[in-house]
Amino acid sequence: MGLLTLDVFNVRNIKKASIAPASKFNFIYGLNGSGKSALLEAIFLMGRAKSFRTADLSKIINFNANQFIVSGKVQSEKNTTTLGIQYHSGQFVARMDQQTVKSKASIAYCFPLQIIHPKSYRTLDAGPQIRREFMDWGVFNLDPAFLTSWRRFKKALTQRNAALKNKVLNEVRVWEPELAYYGTIVQECRCDYIEQLKPYFLLVSEQLLGITEIDIKIIAGWDAAFTYEQALHKSTEKDLRYGYTRLGPHRGDFSVLVQKRQAKDHVSRGQLKMLVLALSMAQVLMLKENNQQMGCFMIDDLTAELDQHSKEKVFCCLDDMSIQVFLTATDQESFKNDLPQGDHKMFHVEQGVITEA
Ligand SMILES: Nc1ncnc2c1ncn2[C@@H]1O[C@H](COP(=O)(O)OP(=O)(O)OP(=O)(O)O)[C@@H](O)[C@H]1O
Ligand SMILES: [Mg+2]
Repeated sequence: MGLLTLDVFNVRNIKKASIAPASKFNFIYGLNGSGKSALLEAIFLMGRAKSFRTADLSKIINFNANQFIVSGKVQSEKNTTTLGIQYHSGQFVARMDQQTVKSKASIAYCFPLQIIHPKSYRTLDAGPQIRREFMDWGVFNLDPAFLTSWRRFKKALTQRNAALKNKVLNEVRVWEPELAYYGTIVQECRCDYIEQLKPYFLLVSEQLLGITEIDIKIIAGWDAAFTYEQALHKSTEKDLRYGYTRLGPHRGDFSVLVQKRQAKDHVSRGQLKMLVLALSMAQVLMLKENNQQMGCFMIDDLTAELDQHSKEKVFCCLDDMSIQVFLTATDQESFKNDLPQGDHKMFHVEQGVITEA
């Protein structure tokens, strides 16, 4: 599976570009500010219907335009699908084979992609939101039933929070069984997911970092000695005082332990970067082994801060993954020594203009 063609109009400084990516490695190079991340942003928009850089899509529209469009052909095992994303006057329109699609999830299922960008390297040492997103993307792609439970949990959470804000105790109680029921499912899905991910993470960490004693610890978002329903009951009084639900999967998290110590406090910056790469690669490997389609894997600014040895290992792992890959770097030399045997292309980006090199 992968992207066969891509057409970009007015995404950041890319006014108009068309490329036909290689099925395996796509190396994108260009100076700072040339438009490399903008190109990955365009691809990301096709697979996630959102940006990895901003929540405000109007910021993506080229300064001299009033809309952006990204479209492309996605090849899966069975067929080819045309995806199109347009953003104009605050309106977001997504099309699959010329049909308008309402749910962003449909696009995400059609072209599942994962990206590592400079902020991703904070996955293990920033706040928990980024780690929850990491887990939920994995569960979402592995277990189609997860999305319904997650949506119902979010709805019940919003309702209970509104009742807490208005201090209506009866209503707070009304939403608790549903919140507890779906919240427990969300947590169980995440736990199962992390358990399944562990062996893959172990394998990739060993390949990338030579670390063998590694573990992932999941954090529920409430005291695990109690069920979620019990925890909610116990915290009602405090929740009323605070005006929101303090406990639950929306507070869930995970941490990575290296030799029984918190990785974020004990490994170097370069190693932390490699651990984040290992987590994401493990995620993709696991999806593929579970016969799930995987659209593409993108790494923005791969070479920054990685030594030659680490870089070679990353290339080696990516090569084994048999998946379409997009990598960016500021200079062509970063890739030249590591060019793989398989299908690959180089693209040069200069002031928003993309040419195959
Ligand atoms: N809405 C916009 N319209 C036009 N240009 C924009 C817009 N938003 C950002 N830019 C410009 O687009 C250019 C490309 O940005 P981008 O982040 O893609 O560069 P890059 O090649 O990834 O650079 P770096 O190597 O520094 O990461 C930048 O010069 C930026 O100022
Ligand atoms: Mg960039």
